[in-house]
Amino acid sequence: MKITKICCIGAGYVGGPTMAVIAQKCPHIQVTVVDLNEQRIADWNDPNPENIPIYEPGLSEIVAEARGRNLFFSTEVDKAIDEAQMIFISVNTPTKTYGKGKGMAADLKYIELCARQIARVAKQNKIVVEKSTLPVRTAEAIKSILDNTGNGVQFQILSNPEFLAEGTAVTDLLNPDRILIGGDTTEEGEEAINALVDVYSNWVSRDKILTTNVWSSELSKLTANAFLAQRISSINAMSELCEKTGADVNEVARAIGMDSRIGPKFLKASVGFGGSCFQKDILNLVYIAKSYGLNEVADYWEQVIIMNDHQKRRFSNKIVQTLYNTVADKKIAFLGWAFKKDTNDTRESAAIYVADDLINEQAKISVFDPKVSKSKMLNDLDYLETRTSQENIKALNSFENAYEACKGAHAIAILTEWDEFKTYDWKKIYDSMHKPAFVFDGRNILNAKELESIGFVYNGIGS
Ligand code: UDX
Ligand code: ADP
Repeated sequence: MKITKICCIGAGYVGGPTMAVIAQKCPHIQVTVVDLNEQRIADWNDPNPENIPIYEPGLSEIVAEARGRNLFFSTEVDKAIDEAQMIFISVNTPTKTYGKGKGMAADLKYIELCARQIARVAKQNKIVVEKSTLPVRTAEAIKSILDNTGNGVQFQILSNPEFLAEGTAVTDLLNPDRILIGGDTTEEGEEAINALVDVYSNWVSRDKILTTNVWSSELSKLTANAFLAQRISSINAMSELCEKTGADVNEVARAIGMDSRIGPKFLKASVGFGGSCFQKDILNLVYIAKSYGLNEVADYWEQVIIMNDHQKRRFSNKIVQTLYNTVADKKIAFLGWAFKKDTNDTRESAAIYVADDLINEQAKISVFDPKVSKSKMLNDLDYLETRTSQENIKALNSFENAYEACKGAHAIAILTEWDEFKTYDWKKIYDSMHKPAFVFDGRNILNAKELESIGFVYNGIGS
């Protein structure tokens, strides 16, 4: 089947950039991204491409090129489903916050709603592509809904996990390490797989496009994220030992990374990993393992999360201890709130948890993040339900620039590795602060020697 019309349900961090790149690279395919959230769609359609709702380097340029040509953003979900031969499901699958599997299993209610909507609307055969991270065997559930509630048309379900990392989404999409497509091994399944292979081969070489069965594809995504997160928890575990022994975790990471079997990437000790994927996917893996009675497997992977939670807590404890065991009414400046640089996404950001701990100790938090709004920060805190919105408003403030955020602060905590932090006039910042002035570098991005020569008391991770 030759694909000429694609619909993507979900205009978020995955659906938006992925469809923008497909549209740019496949001008012969009409790509329509739909979402229930009217504001989000309005933002994607903002005449100024700089105002699109997701910040990713290079994305606004691609949207500017393709939007209105063969890339469309719309709230007319039914219409887009009806017209498309291929439908990507790119809705969010957060960890369940209620009922069975609470805090562990993925909440599939948005996926199920999509499947039911597709079943209701579709009047011709469709290929349905799972793009969201899903527990293994979700494709089966989607298929069952489609086959049992549809209008008698044929559906092929493909799993096509997204491996892009936020902050580098555009380059990851343009030059992927691999594209993974899982489908049925029947003739119709293979036809569907080939249709999607043809879409990607407009810009990705065939030898990078891997095809597997559906379940291998689904499980590969969880496994990839678990392995990546495990490397971070492993190096973070060593960072605590380094602090006790006088070794330097950056030197250790460099030394082990030169072993070609280990490799240098994903060995940066930090205040802890965040983002919408790692924690959710590992919890999901743990839940699946437990549900098959594989307790050792579950415990093994759960430890990655336990270590990550410990690392965040350890960082806030260190701030309190260093500031003479009290931060009550002290101003602590946060540089960065996003879960990593070059994104405005804050889901599971370490900053949220560190702020929460410090506010419990009655500190006042003043934040500067180049891309995150104050309302988003407050929403993140409210979501924890530790205290009321009014209390959060009193405890957290955000500023237009770092110099304002740091003025009069007792300490600075670096929570995100934004490049611009390295270029600041640190002497000027030091002069505006309470003395002794502390820096807690949760990302190890600043030059410790330089800061110490100015007069700062510098604390990095793992040294
Ligand atoms: C991740 C996967 O990389 C991607 O393939 C998948 O599709 C989605 O999940 P993402 O969460 O966007 O992507 O970003 P990533 O670069 O993986 O970073 C995740 C977290 O780990 C961030 O908080 C980052 O700061 C942290 N991290 C990363 C470290 O603390 N140390 C490192 O060495 C690398
Ligand atoms: P991700 O990082 O997985 O892309 P996001 O939360 O950024 O997650 O985006 C998911 C999007 O999916 C949200 O904008 C949400 O409004 C949208 N969405 C969820 N359920 C549906 C649905 N049934 N129909 C259309 N859009 C949906």
